[in-house]
Amino acid sequence: MTRTIRFGIIGAGLMGREFASAAARWLHLLDLDFRPEIVAVCDTDEGRAGWFRDRVVPAEGLHRDYRELLARDDVDAVYCAVPHDLHERMYIDILQAGKHLFGEKPFGIDRAANQAIMAEVKRHPNLVVRCSSEFPFWPGAMRVIEAIKSGRLGRIIEVRAAFLHSSDLDPNKPINWKRMVEKNGEYGVMGDLGMHVLHIPIRLGWIPTSVSARLSNIITERPDGRGGVVPCETWDNAMITAESEQGFPMLLEVKRIAPGEMDTWSLEVIGTSGCARFSTKQPKTYWYLDYEPGGQQAWSAVDLGYRSAYPSITGDIFEFGFTDAILQMWAAYCDEVTNGEHMRGSFRCATAEEATLQHDILMAALDSHKTGRSVDPRAAAALLG
Ligand SMILES: NC(=O)c1ccc[n+]([C@@H]2O[C@H](COP(=O)([O-])OP(=O)(O)OC[C@H]3O[C@@H](n4cnc5c(N)ncnc54)[C@H](O)[C@@H]3O)[C@@H](O)[C@H]2O)c1
Repeated sequence: MTRTIRFGIIGAGLMGREFASAAARWLHLLDLDFRPEIVAVCDTDEGRAGWFRDRVVPAEGLHRDYRELLARDDVDAVYCAVPHDLHERMYIDILQAGKHLFGEKPFGIDRAANQAIMAEVKRHPNLVVRCSSEFPFWPGAMRVIEAIKSGRLGRIIEVRAAFLHSSDLDPNKPINWKRMVEKNGEYGVMGDLGMHVLHIPIRLGWIPTSVSARLSNIITERPDGRGGVVPCETWDNAMITAESEQGFPMLLEVKRIAPGEMDTWSLEVIGTSGCARFSTKQPKTYWYLDYEPGGQQAWSAVDLGYRSAYPSITGDIFEFGFTDAILQMWAAYCDEVTNGEHMRGSFRCATAEEATLQHDILMAALDSHKTGRSVDPRAAAALLG
């Protein structure tokens, strides 16, 4: 029997619409015993809500006040995709309303907000609370994870993870909430992209014990969209080096101003007997290198095709893309809501605890940039309580 999970969406912007598209395309996936149905949507912006009214829900399903949506008995789970300053209040209210929560990163504008959310998460062990992070669902990322878990890379020498784009390269682009400290947070680019580079390392247990960061604010003012100019104080780029608990170095880069990069997520793991690499810049290609003592060192490129975690109608010779990764992530979340510990897929979405570790690491990065010292995220978090 197929279980229908009835969703409410709070935040009908870029990501809210991506979920609507994934839900509408559910027939793409094969043999699942769960499906999402979007029954209610909340946005304060009429135009954005109207997009949903014309395509997804009838007018009765639209709300301007998210508390009305939470009061509905026909909503089982909520996807919340709003500016970061709203995460704390809304995530807590969603949990108090007894709804499963799929929250967007960074899961609280700062660590204090995240701690408040986590206190509520702990009061509701029966609710499935996960944080959005889609990149591990790319076939190439899955191959890197598989290579690491197999042990065939030997002793890890170093790890590099990056998320690079250039949305902010144009200095004439007007400011929006993602470039305002009060709405996006003091983390700046790290709050936007940090979870994307940290999710797999954290899942694999590669927790940084020391973090050194250099942060750059490259474009310090922007048009306000009304003919004026306003300060733009968020960090544009961050380069973070860290040492894992296992003793190897990690290089983590997140950038909004990386000329030549449209939207590139990558992960490279270098080991004593093998290496593995995937980048969305070459979305079909998985790179690996196997090394035997004295043998040659040669990278091999595998043409991946469409080998997804949840099987789909797409023939496996075809290409996989961003919207497919989103669909796969949603399948993993709905799988877990339906099947709990016995979920069919092998990779669960980022947990709330993993989002908290992200906060500890980003906070250490901010501190490191300010002081010029290396900071141990766990020691700093323990001090703050
Ligand atoms: N996982 C990803 O790949 C990814 C990509 C982009 C953004 N995000 C995250 O998604 C979240 C939203 O980002 P976005 O790009 O969709 O932003 P967006 O600006 O496109 O959408 C946010 C929406 O929230 C609405 N909103 C604001 N205040 C509201 C309120 N009080 N009640 C109801 N709606 C309200 C806005 O009107 C807007 O439509 C952020 O946490 C962001 O970090 C994730």
